[in-house]
Amino acid sequence: MSRSFKAAIKENLPVHATHNLLSLSVPDSMPDPRPGQFFMVGMNRGTDPLLKRAFSLFRRTDEGLQILYRVRGKGTDILRNMKEGAILDMLGPLGNFYPLPSEEKTPLVMAGGIGIASVFSLIEDLAGKAIVFYGARTKEELLMLNEVKVYAKEVIVSTDDGSAGLKGTAADALRAFLAPQASDAHFCIYACGPHPLLKAVARMSKEYRIRAYVSMEEHMACGIGACLGCVVKTHDGFKRVCKEGPVMSASEIVW
Ligand SMILES: Cc1cc2nc3c(=O)[nH]c(=O)nc-3n(C[C@H](O)[C@H](O)[C@H](O)COP(=O)(O)OP(=O)(O)OC[C@H]3O[C@@H](n4cnc5c(N)ncnc54)[C@H](O)[C@@H]3O)c2cc1C
Ligand code: FES
Repeated sequence: MSRSFKAAIKENLPVHATHNLLSLSVPDSMPDPRPGQFFMVGMNRGTDPLLKRAFSLFRRTDEGLQILYRVRGKGTDILRNMKEGAILDMLGPLGNFYPLPSEEKTPLVMAGGIGIASVFSLIEDLAGKAIVFYGARTKEELLMLNEVKVYAKEVIVSTDDGSAGLKGTAADALRAFLAPQASDAHFCIYACGPHPLLKAVARMSKEYRIRAYVSMEEHMACGIGACLGCVVKTHDGFKRVCKEGPVMSASEIVW
């Protein structure tokens, strides 16, 4: 089945100097996206940039979906300047998704910076059950924090510069939370963010014997399993992040 479709920009709202919230209307035929899945988005005019860029589902809306993105390079700079009514070539939803925890587990959701884009809809679906560890460089980069608070049971904020919450990373905050716990068996971790954060989560998952799922954000060229540009080394051989992921068990990755 083709996953290709055209989406119309409804709004492309700056939420920070370097981040925008993109609201799209999509055809009814697009399969329902699940938390953790992603889309390949074409923003080229002519052939530059040639390749589509990968973005997580941020939130489902009545008309379609939203993407929260950070402006990094050529593609996202073009995207930032696109206006309401512009049409994007898209592929998706792609990849696997976060498995929901069993009833007895308390989900601990970790977001580092723009990693919030991947876990937001999971926090929404967990409807008041998730304890969220949300870290960013500064207070201003804690994007959509009020929205996160609406759906989370509790939000533990951290910033690198100490301008809000604990001074340090979301991983530091998770360790401080886990250290005094009498039993770890009833937790389950979900994480998206920079590689060092995911690696720290994997370490704690092993140390505290808690199942952890991480969303890997490797560079992607095709997004559909054809180019092998996104492989990561696992204990079971190389796996494609776009096909076998992006959500992977932290214990299966060779960090
Ligand atoms: C599955 C997946 C989901 C993603 N979801 C989101 C999202 O929801 N919001 C968001 O803002 N970004 C997301 N990203 C990252 C996003 O794809 C890149 O930021 C984007 O492709 C950059 O395109 P560009 O043309 O602006 O930058 P380029 O000009 O291609 O690159 C600019 C700089 O960014 C670096 N870069 C590009 N892609 C990545 C990457 N995947 N990981 C680390 N560094 C990279 C390059 O090395 C370069 O230094 C996701 C990536 C993946 C693989
Ligand atoms: S991006 Fe091409 S195989 Fe994953």
